[in-house]
Amino acid sequence: MRQNLEIVRFDRPEHEPELSVQAARLVLEIGNYKKTRDVETVLWHMEGRTTLVAVDDNRQVVGTAALKRVNSTLGVLDDVVSDPSMRGDGIGRKVVKTAEEVALSEGILELNLASSLTAASFYKHLGYTQLGERFFRKYL
Ligand SMILES: CC(C)(COP(=O)(O)OP(=O)(O)OC[C@H]1O[C@@H](n2cnc3c(N)ncnc32)[C@H](O)[C@@H]1OP(=O)(O)O)[C@@H](O)C(=O)NCCC(=O)NCCS
Repeated sequence: MRQNLEIVRFDRPEHEPELSVQAARLVLEIGNYKKTRDVETVLWHMEGRTTLVAVDDNRQVVGTAALKRVNSTLGVLDDVVSDPSMRGDGIGRKVVKTAEEVALSEGILELNLASSLTAASFYKHLGYTQLGERFFRKYL
């Protein structure tokens, strides 16, 4: 990794307004939002779930992941992205690992996710089991 990255966690966008907007822009730029195309909609999706962001020394968001709770023991990982100029630097692993730690600390024992086709190998690398072409699961 080229620089120290801090992981910031927030449960509502208004708790970290600047980081929320940056994370939303990164998700829109890179993620798989086909129907929802504006920052406001992504911010709306951040309500009711935990967002993890990786920030660099200049407090710029370079990666993000979201944790949604389905029930007391099941969670869903969503919107995992890292800055294209920093791929392979460990950002994706770090935000996913932090989301897993948060989930486990809250009693979540199983994480599910729908992956983009290109990220399937990334999730297998992080210990997720492929259930279908795009669907993955990990028992924490
Ligand atoms: C998938 C993504 C988040 C990975 O982020 P990243 O910051 O490059 O990942 P990391 O550097 O933390 O990689 C962690 C490990 O996975 C491996 N890895 C990363 N991307 C990989 C891929 N596409 N295929 C196989 N392995 C991959 C890395 O080599 C690294 O291995 P190591 O720890 O043994 O060295 C990033 O490529 C991305 O934003 N892609 C576009 C958006 C996307 O598809 N998101 C997933 C939607 S569900």
